[in-house]
Amino acid sequence: MVKIAFNTPTAVQKEEARQDVEALLSRTVRTQILTGKELRVATQEKEGSSGRCMLTLLGLSFILAGLIVGGACIYKYFMPKSTIYRGEMCFFDSEDPANSLRGGEPNFLPVTEEADIREDDNIAIIDVPVPSFSDSDPAAIIHDFEKGMTAYLDLLLGNCYLMPLNTSIVMPPKNLVELFGKLASGRYLPQTYVVREDLVAVEEIRDVSNLGIFIYQLCNNRKSFRLRRRDLLLGFNKRAIDKCWKIRHFPNEFIVETKICQE
Ligand SMILES: *[C@@H]1O[C@H](CO)[C@@H](O)[C@H](O)[C@H]1NC(C)=O
Repeated sequence: MVKIAFNTPTAVQKEEARQDVEALLSRTVRTQILTGKELRVATQEKEGSSGRCMLTLLGLSFILAGLIVGGACIYKYFMPKSTIYRGEMCFFDSEDPANSLRGGEPNFLPVTEEADIREDDNIAIIDVPVPSFSDSDPAAIIHDFEKGMTAYLDLLLGNCYLMPLNTSIVMPPKNLVELFGKLASGRYLPQTYVVREDLVAVEEIRDVSNLGIFIYQLCNNRKSFRLRRRDLLLGFNKRAIDKCWKIRHFPNEFIVETKICQE
């Protein structure tokens, strides 16, 4: 200000010009700063909205993942692990009169099974359909390794027959799964021999509710009988036993012919 007082007109003009330039410069700078700010604000808004979008997506995927895991848990809880296996094995029946003929082709009989094997429950539920070439009865068989029981439901008679599980005949579920795997892959020679069981229905069982849920479901509301091996029967009226039938199945790498007789 003091300087201005001594300024010549040219100096004043110069000063004005300088001020003009400064004003211009400062305006430009301000505009630049403003533009920068606006830009920054604009980019921030953009980042903000995409961030919100990401969060929403993340949240949604968490909810979805939760639903999937929850659903899987509920499914696993309510639907026990089980797989249905199908298999066929053939056997040579030396007692079949057709096979005792000399020079005749050996007559192999097929046995087909459908098995629901539940390793978690230690149980095998075997369905024997109506056989096409033999006199065996269709049946549903339960081998319950937890309860140590076998139940035969003869589907022609509608009766249940129960006996202790014979672990030297029946393979554990894990090995049965392997056997069916081998049968399915065709790597296994499905020709085998027969083991015969001769059983007698000795007494009626009125209450099957203490034999496990699986046997209960199979045999509840049906006539149920306890089976005994004929060779272990002492003092039993053997002549009174007249009706017999067979169930052929494979609880192992061989066929078991279960003959059940009843008065
Ligand atoms: C299991 O079955 C086999 C073959 O039939 C027999 O030799 C064995 O005595 C049976 N075991 C029991 C406990 O019945």
